[in-house]
Amino acid sequence: MILPSDNYEVIVDSPWSHFNDFIEAKNYSKIVVLVDENTKKYCYEAMPLDKLHSLIEIPSGEQQKQIQSCSSIWEQLLAHKCDRNSLLINLGGGVIGDMGGFCASTFMRGIDFIQVPTTLLSQIDASVGGKLGVDLNGVKNMVGLFNNPRMVWVQTSFLSTLPKRELRSGFAELVKHALILDQELWSELKKLESLDDIDNWQDLVFRSIEIKNKVVLQDPKEGGLRKILNFGHSIGHGIETLLLDGPNHLVHGEAVAHGMLIESKISVNKGQLSVEDYNSIKEFIQKIYGIFDSSQINIQELLQVIGKDKKNKGGVILMALIDQIGHCQQAVEVSPAEIVSALQEL
Ligand SMILES: NC(=O)c1ccc[n+]([C@@H]2O[C@H](COP(=O)([O-])OP(=O)(O)OC[C@H]3O[C@@H](n4cnc5c(N)ncnc54)[C@H](O)[C@@H]3O)[C@@H](O)[C@H]2O)c1
Ligand SMILES: [Zn+2]
Repeated sequence: MILPSDNYEVIVDSPWSHFNDFIEAKNYSKIVVLVDENTKKYCYEAMPLDKLHSLIEIPSGEQQKQIQSCSSIWEQLLAHKCDRNSLLINLGGGVIGDMGGFCASTFMRGIDFIQVPTTLLSQIDASVGGKLGVDLNGVKNMVGLFNNPRMVWVQTSFLSTLPKRELRSGFAELVKHALILDQELWSELKKLESLDDIDNWQDLVFRSIEIKNKVVLQDPKEGGLRKILNFGHSIGHGIETLLLDGPNHLVHGEAVAHGMLIESKISVNKGQLSVEDYNSIKEFIQKIYGIFDSSQINIQELLQVIGKDKKNKGGVILMALIDQIGHCQQAVEVSPAEIVSALQEL
């Protein structure tokens, strides 16, 4: 399946021979594959790359997504004698994709790169939209740029080795895509009892990329519409930050899932979302992600983190909120009192 994006294509579950043909046609001077230890073991071994190439391996994890790793990647690109006509293939999750894309876009002022996302999150979220970069002193995505790959190559078979918790985390972004823009996809999702019910990811992944692609094509630099992709993230990011170092640590998607539920509660309380839609969201999120125990959160600390959200303007908290399933408003004013009530009444 092929989805045209900006100036490249997203290709889902095509035969590897097409991948090799694409590279062959470009006549690259050098091809380098960037992996971490997991994607080397589970994905690289399964990737029948024809062309002679070199490998760069970095340790896995968000803590590697920093400029020091980039220096090491740039140095290894040089050591492998890469020039302006070389190609970097980023084989991994969002960390490899964001950082590898950033390194390729800046090495010798920019060389070609191909994204081969291997986690559910990176396949449906990080794969399109052109955002690349690294964290700085623990602040996420502080240094980076917008730039597009030559191609995004998605193989849903890679998801079979992904730890269940990572799969469930990425799934939250798929749920988000349905809630903000695709009521029909939502009706299908809500029938699922568990993620184990999904034996073929191809259709869900493709439709989810389609939704994100539609948004980023209309608003490439996040001037307006693209903000709807932040649904669930104002509160979700707050929860994720507060629980980061504790025993009840949540991965990104788990926090976003609870964030979507709390933000939906804010919408109901505002009279903007029907109780029926809210109950349907609540039932599904609690079925897949469990019941969020809000007593583990210090509300004042949560409000502080949310107050610093980059979507806010002039000290006013702004959130992307749904007013019905499949429809989202990009910047709704929310008061601290509304956040507190939603959390307490959940
Ligand atoms: N560019 C964007 O638009 C965008 C959007 C969303 C998120 N992101 C970024 O993506 C990053 C998170 O991405 P992620 O969740 O993919 O994390 P990740 O890249 O850290 O991958 C998660 C874990 O899964 C392992 N893994 C990857 N593929 C595997 C496979 N097929 N089988 C077994 N293990 C595998 C990795 O080694 C890692 O340990 C964050 O840094 C976030 O900022 C970027
Ligand atoms: Zn997210």
